[in-house]
Amino acid sequence: MKAMAMASWAANEPLRPVELPAPAVGPRDVRVAVKFAGVNPVDWKMRSEGPLRLAARLLAPPPPVVLGVDFAGIVAEIGSAVTSVKLGDRVVGGTDFSRGQRGSLADTVVVRADQVTHVPETVPLDVAGALPIAGVTAWRAVVELGRIIAGKRVLILGASGGVGQLAVQVAKHVQHAFVAGVCSAKNVELVKSLGADAVIDYGAGDPLDQARALGPFDAVIDCVGGYAGGRCRALLGANGRHVMVSPHTPDEFVQLALAPFTTRTLLGRVDGAAIRPILGAVAAGQVQVRITDRFPLERAEDAHRLSQAGRATGKIVIEVGEE
Ligand SMILES: NC(=O)c1ccc[n+]([C@@H]2O[C@H](COP(=O)([O-])OP(=O)(O)OC[C@H]3O[C@@H](n4cnc5c(N)ncnc54)[C@H](OP(=O)(O)O)[C@@H]3O)[C@@H](O)[C@H]2O)c1
Repeated sequence: MKAMAMASWAANEPLRPVELPAPAVGPRDVRVAVKFAGVNPVDWKMRSEGPLRLAARLLAPPPPVVLGVDFAGIVAEIGSAVTSVKLGDRVVGGTDFSRGQRGSLADTVVVRADQVTHVPETVPLDVAGALPIAGVTAWRAVVELGRIIAGKRVLILGASGGVGQLAVQVAKHVQHAFVAGVCSAKNVELVKSLGADAVIDYGAGDPLDQARALGPFDAVIDCVGGYAGGRCRALLGANGRHVMVSPHTPDEFVQLALAPFTTRTLLGRVDGAAIRPILGAVAAGQVQVRITDRFPLERAEDAHRLSQAGRATGKIVIEVGEE
């Protein structure tokens, strides 16, 4: 199989094209011919950042290291015990280092059948491939941890990012809540167009101060990291939730212990069951996935650099093969 891989776990090791033997398909596995692989910050963080890189290194198969979680493609082989999918099915899913699997920057992945779900005919495979991590995270943050339902008020910090855009749409068009979003000036119109009722430009003054006039909120969802937990919680009404999608400062981890009933974090772990609700919302036309940048597999390095720059205004996908 063809893949882009790091030769070792050395920090920021380059991604280079490699030919690897295709993994064997076990009784409960499926082999998927990957057509599109979605790019997420976790992909480059595993190359550059301490704890994520360490965890990935402990769990992943030995080098060469094939990164990437999100994928969409066509089922090319099924294990003897698999009944949920058949050859030729269009599927979306996520790879999992903790199951000894290689990542999705490859023309082939082998994963357990429960790690994929069918892609409805109305959803293009590139859209599906861009969805797993960001979509599952947005859904869980808004619906499960944020407990946002009709009539509730939610503040989404980082509303223009991959997770934030989906969170705005789930909160507005699926759960029918009042949505306020925080982003940079250049993305204010974009976030409005996604359905936000109010948009705060964080360059025009302290965004949490600006948000006070729109509260109290039933949930404050921080898709950026670095916003002070105590100040986010001060914007909540009774029984409100502060959801940290991306805690990374020591203070943010302390918040989880300080306010365990109010502040929550999540791991957007993807499998077929976790993807289905957000994929259903996409198929129903309630949620749009904006793909802004596409790269061929050989240019995966450029895709990671673009994501790392933190200024993409939509999802980045790697085009691995023709649909
Ligand atoms: N817990 C999990 O399982 C999980 C899952 C998915 C993602 N994450 C993490 O969540 C974070 C976001 O992921 P993503 O895929 O959405 O990344 P992304 O697509 O790169 O989006 C990041 C966004 O942050 C915005 N931003 C930067 N500074 C900001 C500020 N001060 N206030 C408000 N917005 C700001 C940027 O928008 P502007 O240009 O408008 O500033 C950018 O669009 C990453 O750290 C990622 O690792 C965690």
